[in-house]
Amino acid sequence: MRIFLDTANIQEIRDAARMGVISGVTTNPSLVAKEGKGDLRDRVLEICSIVQGPVSVEAVSLDVEGILEEARRLSRWSPHVVVKVPITPAGLEATATLSKEGVKTNLTLCFSANQALLAALAGATYVSPFVGRLDDAGHDGMQVVADAVEILEYYELPTQLIAASIRHPLHSIAAAKAGAHVATIPYKVLMQMVQHPLTDVGIERFLADWKKVMPAPV
Ligand code: E4P
Repeated sequence: MRIFLDTANIQEIRDAARMGVISGVTTNPSLVAKEGKGDLRDRVLEICSIVQGPVSVEAVSLDVEGILEEARRLSRWSPHVVVKVPITPAGLEATATLSKEGVKTNLTLCFSANQALLAALAGATYVSPFVGRLDDAGHDGMQVVADAVEILEYYELPTQLIAASIRHPLHSIAAAKAGAHVATIPYKVLMQMVQHPLTDVGIERFLADWKKVMPAPV
């Protein structure tokens, strides 16, 4: 499973990219708004220069022509740009056209395996089930990921599944076990995945023992 960072924050992306563990970034209108006013194109191009992998940017139009116009414009910014499109009838129609034009898409706000199947049939590059939001609503978000992966693989559909709305490290493990191609993870959760109290205690003990006999690192 690959890991994308779910943020529009440049510093978080720089810090995560330095660790060599992320291969893409997903943003959404709320994440971009959190960073305050500013030129979206500049931000997206800066992100692309840091990760040099897929960078999802959401189209905010809701009608077919509007989505197509936005998606074509966004995709011209960089070959790394993947246009996020909500799964609606208009979103699917636009995706079918964009797929023929070679514009990469990430079908977002996916809450069922049926929606994931439709996204794949329309030619989506990625589809993103929102695990945390399903869990919040009393459903089993990871089951949607598992069902959708099974369907995509059974029918050898090339669409990649991104487990999204990841809220804690256990979601990441479950997504990997369910066969998600990608999990898009907030920076805070990524750091929770890195850190373990026994690692810190272990380092402390090793260094204390070392200092008893050695004056400095070799
Ligand atoms: C995915 O692409 C979305 O940006 C994101 O995962 C949504 O997560 P949230 O439910 O925590 O807002």
